[in-house]
Amino acid sequence: MKRRHLFEFNEAVWMPSSLRALVTDYLRTLIDLIEPFSPQLPLIAQALRRAGEAAGVVDLCSGGGGPWRHLSPQLNRLAGRVVPVLLTDKYPGQAASALRGASSAVVWCLTPVDATAVPGSLQGMRTLFDGFHHFTPTVATGILRNAVDDGAPIVVMELLRRSYADLLAVLFTPVLVWGLTPWIRPFSWTRLALTYVLPVAPLIIFWDTLVSVLRCYTPTELRRMGQVAAGNRYVWFADTYRYRGAPVTFLIGYPRDSAGAGGAAG
Ligand SMILES: C[S@@+](CC[C@H](N)C(=O)[O-])C[C@H]1O[C@@H](n2cnc3c(N)ncnc32)[C@H](O)[C@@H]1O
Repeated sequence: MKRRHLFEFNEAVWMPSSLRALVTDYLRTLIDLIEPFSPQLPLIAQALRRAGEAAGVVDLCSGGGGPWRHLSPQLNRLAGRVVPVLLTDKYPGQAASALRGASSAVVWCLTPVDATAVPGSLQGMRTLFDGFHHFTPTVATGILRNAVDDGAPIVVMELLRRSYADLLAVLFTPVLVWGLTPWIRPFSWTRLALTYVLPVAPLIIFWDTLVSVLRCYTPTELRRMGQVAAGNRYVWFADTYRYRGAPVTFLIGYPRDSAGAGGAAG
């Protein structure tokens, strides 16, 4: 299925942060419910170790916090220490909702951080959940190259898979939005009105999810981008799987010279 880079509301510069939060708060609630990235925690922890014994995580395109509410304690348990996580975003207006219920190891960077030009001062393993599809192949490869140039391991994970079956499944998105909305925090009358009276949230989320499926990179494309970005300096793991009914596509890479044994790598 051919990749198409169509318009997404969520990344439009004119979107007020209150409307952007309709998408990111929904996404965080869905991710907290399914915990779709947890099966890859051993590989994520392995990549983190390549960043150094005391290294933390710099999360890019953090939006409403993504999976960190449940992933942070799980990663701490696996790493045997408290792993500091810095949430960053180009539009860091959602700090309050992103940190709600998160552990104190998770902090928010209040200044905008563009995932395409991460300041060298932000050291640690980079993670990018549900954001890589926002970027064209050239820019996405640049994000990987940026991490490679800084010698940082990078984890890219999407609650998506580009396939006809997953495109068809998007038809159920409005039903999911209507069903999940009462559990989305922070509670907001505006969110309820924009979901059950005027269906703005279901429509925006439906469209953005549809376009995200069409934009999602396949494991083969991801691995190729990694190789273009790093030559043979990095070892890359790319795959797609289904967990609790949800599709996940991922790319995880770290410097090859420090790579140990661990699964099929590209
Ligand atoms: C779909 S949300 C993903 C949020 C979160 N990671 C999650 O898993 O729920 C994508 C986020 O990427 C941010 N974003 C878009 N372009 C960006 C860029 N160039 N640099 C950093 N963040 C960006 C948006 O502001 C939005 O919060």
